[in-house]
Amino acid sequence: MKLGVNIDHIAVLREARKVADPDPLDALGICKRAGADQITIHLREDRRHIQESDAKNIIALSSLPVNLECAIDESMIDIACALRPHRVTLVPEKREEVTTEGGLAVEGEQPRLKEAIRRLQAQEIEISLFIDPTLAAVKASLDLHVEWIEFHTGKYANIYAMLYSNLSQTHHSIPELDLSRKILKQMLNDELCNLRLLSCEAMERGLHVAAGHGLNMHNVTDIVDIETIEELNIGQSIIARSIYIGLSQAIKEMKEKLIRR
Ligand code: PXP
Repeated sequence: MKLGVNIDHIAVLREARKVADPDPLDALGICKRAGADQITIHLREDRRHIQESDAKNIIALSSLPVNLECAIDESMIDIACALRPHRVTLVPEKREEVTTEGGLAVEGEQPRLKEAIRRLQAQEIEISLFIDPTLAAVKASLDLHVEWIEFHTGKYANIYAMLYSNLSQTHHSIPELDLSRKILKQMLNDELCNLRLLSCEAMERGLHVAAGHGLNMHNVTDIVDIETIEELNIGQSIIARSIYIGLSQAIKEMKEKLIRR
């Protein structure tokens, strides 16, 4: 399974001080040598982390394919067309959000999406749509004739965190807790089934399937088991872990998790 390393968070640290370090450009060689298959960056409209100059340099200098995430705004599509990355992932964007909170409203945004896709395809840029895992969104993506979809795994990751991080281990049996854990386990299972069914459906109809958001060393295993998902894009957890063990090791460990046995 392929790993796209999202290096936005390196720029988050730099922008917190508005200084020159750390420069996400310095991560390119480390990512490649550690086994990453792709570099992913999100050029947000508010430029809160990656700047236009970062995107320009990264796309020009990366020997790995670059996946540029951006909103479907005309000005962002202008930039993407000029920079010509290997792939553009179209994502929804809200100024007030901390991170991308959901998938594209593919059904409601058809005219704007069609125009963005037409312009990007004219530049021979591969296109992915970041969507919620719903059948309606998969069908709407098929109608748009893109190469890739990326499922937003935020709901899955949140249920996983509620199940395994928030509740402390206890020797006491608390019936209400057991019950809520039972419900959460069922929800987690349902979400995994949903991702599995939709990935299979999308793949059978000719789409390449990626997934990402909120994935980490713990919750990634069940997603890796879904054979029809070809690629994961992971940022926060890899960069967070790299503070302690280094970027190279954090990528190697994640890459190891992505091996299907
Ligand atoms: N894929 C897409 C389309 C995203 O927008 C993001 C978040 O920027 C990610 C993957 C990575 O999410 P995370 O940083 O939670 O791993």
